[in-house]
Amino acid sequence: MGDLARLLKESWSLVEEHQDKVAGYFYARIFLSHPDLRDLFPVHMDVQRSRLLNAIITAVQTLEDPEKFDDYLRALGRDHRKFHVEPEHYEVVGGALIEAMRQFAGEHWGIEYDQAWADAYAVIASKMLAGAEADTNPPYWYAEVTSHERRANDIAVFTVTPMQPLEFRAGQYLSVECPRFQPRLWRTYSPANAPRRDNTLEFHVRAVGAGWVSSALVRRLEVGDMIRLAAPMGSMNLDRRSTRDAVFVAGGTGLAPIKSLLEELTRYNRTRWVHVFFGARTRDDLYDLAELNRLAARYPWLSVVTACSDDPTFPGEQGNISDVVARYGPWNEHDFFVSGSGPMVKATMRTLAELQVPSVRIKYDSFS
Ligand SMILES: Cc1cc2nc3c(=O)[nH]c(=O)nc-3n(C[C@H](O)[C@H](O)[C@H](O)COP(=O)(O)OP(=O)(O)OC[C@H]3O[C@@H](n4cnc5c(N)ncnc54)[C@H](O)[C@@H]3O)c2cc1C
Ligand code: HEM
Repeated sequence: MGDLARLLKESWSLVEEHQDKVAGYFYARIFLSHPDLRDLFPVHMDVQRSRLLNAIITAVQTLEDPEKFDDYLRALGRDHRKFHVEPEHYEVVGGALIEAMRQFAGEHWGIEYDQAWADAYAVIASKMLAGAEADTNPPYWYAEVTSHERRANDIAVFTVTPMQPLEFRAGQYLSVECPRFQPRLWRTYSPANAPRRDNTLEFHVRAVGAGWVSSALVRRLEVGDMIRLAAPMGSMNLDRRSTRDAVFVAGGTGLAPIKSLLEELTRYNRTRWVHVFFGARTRDDLYDLAELNRLAARYPWLSVVTACSDDPTFPGEQGNISDVVARYGPWNEHDFFVSGSGPMVKATMRTLAELQVPSVRIKYDSFS
């Protein structure tokens, strides 16, 4: 471990058990010295689970070689424009972070720790700032809701039309904010279509438990509402040069990016067999099956296998989709695309490892 990494880890261990207090102090310091910055953050802030503080600490501690994370940090900086973050804010936040740690570290804190955090933070901030400055796109796009359909108790499919062209690649995801109901709370959702001439985007959203944003998008959003979209990100894209057949594994609304990739394939594919595995708990959760079946009827290269894990009378496959994939195959020569909840993606990755699918042939998006 390098010297800097050692100092960062050592110093963090001094405050780790007081994380909540560090978070409280960090924000109090920012908001007292710069009250205008409060407006950048969500109305209801769960300081204990602070996204910003946790993210900075993780970034500083894990990015031992910031050059390796250049693209990620530049994208993060670009993305921060949607929060209305200005260059001068970086110094305020960096200063508050070090103050907060020093406050709770006790007598073991040393000047070398101050320097280590200041150095690491400065490198990360400079990359984020460079990314933000180089971006010629707007910080966010307004988009009008043009259709909204409840497909299951907790699932909605809706379409929006951005007010300005928004470029993205099939398989990417976007940040979404619903200002009418949950201002300043941004979450990522994957368009379920490839880029279209008319610029429209379709989203598939499942309302999770006490979820702030997903509940609003599923249960409250209406035609005519405006949402905001930002910063297309992600690399679960098709390689047009690949001649390998492809397997798409989707759990629940994890189908969204898979549909986007399928739509792209319908525009050029003639030669690749494509197998879609779509799993959910019950048949009601297979909310887009009719559309998938329509595509399969139209494109002879496409086959669809469906599975339910909690619906014993469902006539398709039974069990978790990761296990169902293993019942088919062999898969050693295929490109894989996996999308769904954290546990679903993890289970599928385990299955694919057991089936000896090389990891370079697997792309995935985990929703948690
Ligand atoms: C790359 C990416 C793409 C995504 N694309 C989609 C998409 O196309 N469609 C879609 O429906 N979702 C998608 N998500 C998930 C989405 O971003 C939100 O995390 C999800 O909608 C919950 O947000 P929330 O504000 O409603 O919940 P929060 O208010 O953030 O969380 C509320 C509670 O729910 C729990 N929780 C959060 N997420 C989940 C989850 N996925 N499952 C179970 N419990 C959870 C939290 O731990 C918390 O206790 C994607 C996530 C990522 C990272
Ligand atoms: C090293 C510097 C920084 C890093 C690594 C960093 C990283 C992050 C990450 C990863 C997130 C979560 C992203 C998301 O949920 O979309 C986040 C959220 C956020 N960041 Fe930063 N950030 C930095 C600096 C700043 C600065 C200077 C500001 C200005 C005040 C800022 C304001 C915010 C806000 C408002 C949020 C949303 C918080 C929320 O939803 O609770 N960040 N940051």
